[in-house]
Amino acid sequence: MQKHYLLTPGPTPIPPEVALKEALPILHHRTNEFGTIYKDVVEGLKYVFQTKNEVYLLAASGTGSMEMAIANLLSPDDEIIVASCGNFGDRWIKIAQSYGVNVISTSVEWGKVVNPAEIEKALKENPNVKAVYTTFTETSTGVVNDIKKIGEVVAKTNAVLVVDAISGLAGQEFRTDDWKIDVVVSGSQKGFMLAPGLAFISFSEKAWKLTEASKLPKFYFDIKKYKKSYATNETPFTPPVTLIVALQESIRLIKERGIENMWNDYKLLAKAARSAMKALGLELFGEVPCEVVTSACVPTEIGGKIVKTLREKYGVSIAGGQGNLKGKIIRFAHMGYIGKADLLVGFACLEMTLAELGFNVEKGKAVAAAEAALLDS
Ligand SMILES: Cc1ncc(COP(=O)(O)O)c(C=O)c1O
Repeated sequence: MQKHYLLTPGPTPIPPEVALKEALPILHHRTNEFGTIYKDVVEGLKYVFQTKNEVYLLAASGTGSMEMAIANLLSPDDEIIVASCGNFGDRWIKIAQSYGVNVISTSVEWGKVVNPAEIEKALKENPNVKAVYTTFTETSTGVVNDIKKIGEVVAKTNAVLVVDAISGLAGQEFRTDDWKIDVVVSGSQKGFMLAPGLAFISFSEKAWKLTEASKLPKFYFDIKKYKKSYATNETPFTPPVTLIVALQESIRLIKERGIENMWNDYKLLAKAARSAMKALGLELFGEVPCEVVTSACVPTEIGGKIVKTLREKYGVSIAGGQGNLKGKIIRFAHMGYIGKADLLVGFACLEMTLAELGFNVEKGKAVAAAEAALLDS
C-alpha cells in the first residue's frame, strides 16, 4: 500500500470536510434548497475574487471559462492583445485563433514575466484592440505577472482586461476590482481545494458592453444564458450539484481562515520551498516566482526521471516541465489544501530521489532549510 501526496499544481488535495460533502446524496438543482446553496456560493466566490461583479459557475475545466471569455467578448476578425509568458498564456492565442480572432502578441520567453510597458505600446499602436488577455500565475513556469500594473494600463483605454487566475486565485494576493480587471476566469481544482470540473468567470460592466456586440458563435458558453439564470439562483444547464455543495464548504473554510491569511500562508510555504530548492543546489526558475508553485532547474540527465521516481517510490506527485521545458525543470506546488508538513515530506522524498538518481545532495539539508524558513515567520 502506498500513501499518496499530491503536490502538483492542480489538481490539489481536498480537505476531508469538503470530501465528505462530495459524498452526500444528490440534490435536485431546480429547488429552493439548491438555490440557497448556490446564492451562498456565489457570494463566497465574490469574496475570493475580491469583486462586486457577478461570478458565474459553469460545468467545465478552467479552459471552458477561458473559451467563454473569448466567445462572449469578440467577433470574427476582431483584434486582441495576448501577453503570454508560458503554456497557459499561449492557450489564449490558440483559443482566439480557432475562433478567427486576430492576435497581436506581446508574449515573452517562457520563464520571464510579461511587460506592462509593451502592452501599453501595443494598445497605443492598435487603438481598435477590444481586449487584452493575460495570465496571473503562469503555472507552466511558476512566475507571477504584475496584474495590478497591467490593470492601470488597460483601464485607460477602451479595451477590457481578461485575466486567467485559474491557479493563483485564493493562493496569492489578487484583487479583481481594485486592480481594474474586467474578466477573471478560474477553476475548482487548485486554490479552491475542490475536485476538478467547475469553472468560474466574473464580468465587469465594461465587459458586459462588449458582449452586446459579440458575434462569435456560442451556445453552451453563452454568458447571457448564465446571467439570466443567475437572477433566480440557477444555472442554465444541469450544474455539477455535488461540486457546488462541496464548494460551499471549501469557501466556508477559506472565509474562516480569511483570504489575506491564506495569501500569507502560501507566501510562507513559497519562501520555504525556495530555500529548500536552493539548499538542494537547484537554481530557481522564473523571473518573478509566484507563491503557489516553485519551479527549479534540474540536470537534464535526470530531469525526465525525477517526477516518475518520486511518485512510484514515495507516492509523492510533483510536476515536471511542459513543452520545451520538459525534463529541464520540476514544479513543486503549494496551493490548495497543502500545509507545512506536506512540504517537509515532499522535500525529504525529493532529496532521497535525487540521491538515488546520482545527484550529489547532502541529505537533510533541504528539509532543514525549509524548517528554518517556516520557523522564521
Ligand atoms: C494558469 C492556468 N491556466 C489554465 C489552466 C487550464 O485549466 P484546466 O486544465 O482546468 O482546463 C491551468 C491548469 O493547469 C492553469 O494553471
